[in-house]
Amino acid sequence: MSQKEPAAKKPNTSSLDRPALWGLTLIFFALAAIFFFLPTGNSIPIPDPASVSPKDIDPSPRFTPLSDPPKAMVNGFERTCMDCHVSIDSQPHSTDLHQHANIELQHGINTRCVTCHDSKNRNLLATLDNKTFTYAQSSQLCSQCHGPVYRQWERGIHGKTLGYWDAKLGKSEKLTCTQCHDPHHPRFDAIKPLPGPNTLRMGDQETGDSQDHGDHKRNPLLLPPHSKTTDSHLPAHESKH
Ligand code: HEC
Ligand code: HEC
Ligand code: HEC
Ligand code: HEC
Repeated sequence: MSQKEPAAKKPNTSSLDRPALWGLTLIFFALAAIFFFLPTGNSIPIPDPASVSPKDIDPSPRFTPLSDPPKAMVNGFERTCMDCHVSIDSQPHSTDLHQHANIELQHGINTRCVTCHDSKNRNLLATLDNKTFTYAQSSQLCSQCHGPVYRQWERGIHGKTLGYWDAKLGKSEKLTCTQCHDPHHPRFDAIKPLPGPNTLRMGDQETGDSQDHGDHKRNPLLLPPHSKTTDSHLPAHESKH
């Protein structure tokens, strides 16, 4: 008796014959195809990507500062300062500019050209106590009035250092004040912000509108409507915010 029992449990493979097996396989394939191609009714509105011009994220210095001897473009010609100034007497109190009409001085109460330019030798910059600097040393000129910012710049807190951290790999280059600031108009104009992130789940959670997408189709990736009722599960002090 005990020997007969295992034989009875043996699965009866012949009850599912071959044509039926094939039929079932076909039906499953057909169902898979239908589910795959059936439109779901959900379309995810994808806004056009915001375009960013490479110019807006250019890390290179804003200005190319003067080198020594300094040259200026005057009336379309490049001249060294002393080409002309050798024969021009300085008029330290004049604000009437004809040759240098491109210069519009907007530097706080710093309204005289000779607070920074040496009145005799135009190839040099000068402090108020007549210490002179070459154009390559122009950052030291700024230090006489902007001590705290100058010290921050020396320590790498203000400004920018390009190149290598590791001195074995290459040199590091600290940008000078005049590579970022126009000495005659040092304040930066307002900088236009770059576009913010725009992921698929962004947009108005209440109406379901995606950002920059006005066709009023509900974005299925956003929170379902009325989901804000879940706030009531929060402790009282959190749901008040
Ligand atoms: C083409 C000739 C010419 C060149 C080159 C030139 N300047 Fe002048 N500059 C003048 C004249 C003329 C004046 C008198 C004011 C005016 O007409 O703009 C003047 C005035 C100035 C002033 C006004 C203060 C003062 O003492 O009268 C400064 C500062 C100055 N120049 C600096 C420079 C520097 C720095 C350079 C070189 C980077 C330079 N200039 C190159 C012709 C020139
Ligand atoms: C706060 C200091 C300061 C004052 C004030 C100042 N300058 Fe300058 N100026 C500089 C420095 C620094 C440079 C060198 C800039 C560079 O390296 O690019 C310069 C460059 C120049 C140049 C050559 C570059 C150019 O933009 O053409 C001229 C010309 C010039 N200054 C004229 C003047 C005149 C004219 C005045 C008065 C109206 C004046 N500056 C006032 C600091 C000053
Ligand atoms: C003789 C003194 C003097 C020198 C030299 C000088 N500055 Fe200034 N700077 C001033 C004054 C004064 C102000 C105005 C501060 C204010 O309005 O609160 C100012 C303001 C500024 C500002 C802020 C502008 C703003 O409106 O927020 C910058 C940036 C600046 N300077 C950069 C420089 C640079 C770069 C140099 C060197 C090329 C320089 N300064 C040289 C006196 C000076
Ligand atoms: C890499 C660029 C860069 C360099 C280099 C740089 N600055 Fe600035 N600086 C800035 C920017 C950006 C601001 C902020 C401008 C704004 O908010 O309008 C600023 C602000 C300032 C201000 C006004 C705000 C403050 O903190 O008081 C001063 C003054 C100033 N800089 C002076 C200097 C001097 C002096 C040097 C050189 C020793 C220098 N900067 C070098 C980019 C630079």
